Amino acid sequence: MSKSSNITWHNATITKEDRRAQNGHGSCTLWFTGLSGSGKSTIANAVSNELFRQGINEYVLDGDNIRHGLNKDLGFSEEDRTENIRRIGEVAKLFVDSGQIVTTAFISPFRSDRDNVRALFAEGEFIEVFIDCPLEECERRDPKQLYVKARKGEIKDFTGIDSPYESPENPEILIRSDLVTVEESVEQVLGYLREKNII
Ligand code: PPS
Repeated sequence: MSKSSNITWHNATITKEDRRAQNGHGSCTLWFTGLSGSGKSTIANAVSNELFRQGINEYVLDGDNIRHGLNKDLGFSEEDRTENIRRIGEVAKLFVDSGQIVTTAFISPFRSDRDNVRALFAEGEFIEVFIDCPLEECERRDPKQLYVKARKGEIKDFTGIDSPYESPENPEILIRSDLVTVEESVEQVLGYLREKNII
């Protein structure tokens, strides 16, 4: 619910079509979701590097980084995660309005939160990328040693341990990060963008 009144929406005079014509590509959100340690950030950054190399206007919004700034007032309760995802969804929308391809890498564990973000976008502009990796494999990798701490009870509400992760039911892209390489994952995402005529 909005707390502001007496505010008016201003439509921009430069349209998305104008930006597409100037940029030579479309805009969208590549919304990565998956467990901690599933490879979201690694694959998102590899996709970003390849898009950048091809001269495409793109940007990555990454979980840990956003939580250092914009969302540093939020923790990991259900309520805070919902607010985290809501804000990121709004920021992603601004990037898409500006004609860019924005890649987001957040656990975003709740289906309803992801669906609410999807609803902000026009058809085809929100691309859910499920980085599907079994919990056992994420725990084996444990790059930040967070699962070890969560198992000892030193971190509460850790996704996959004592906080739920709701897998996407119909993601536009599904990457089994325990079975394919980072390069293959990048090609899968870029192939989708080409198929949809976004790049
Ligand atoms: S969420 O659920 O979408 O709001 O989370 P996100 O903003 O992506 O932040 C996840 C990163 O925060 C670290 N971290 C935790 N993750 C899950 N649960 C708990 N309790 C937690 N505490 C800290 C962790 O480094 C996550 O990064 P990734 O890159 O996913 O491993």
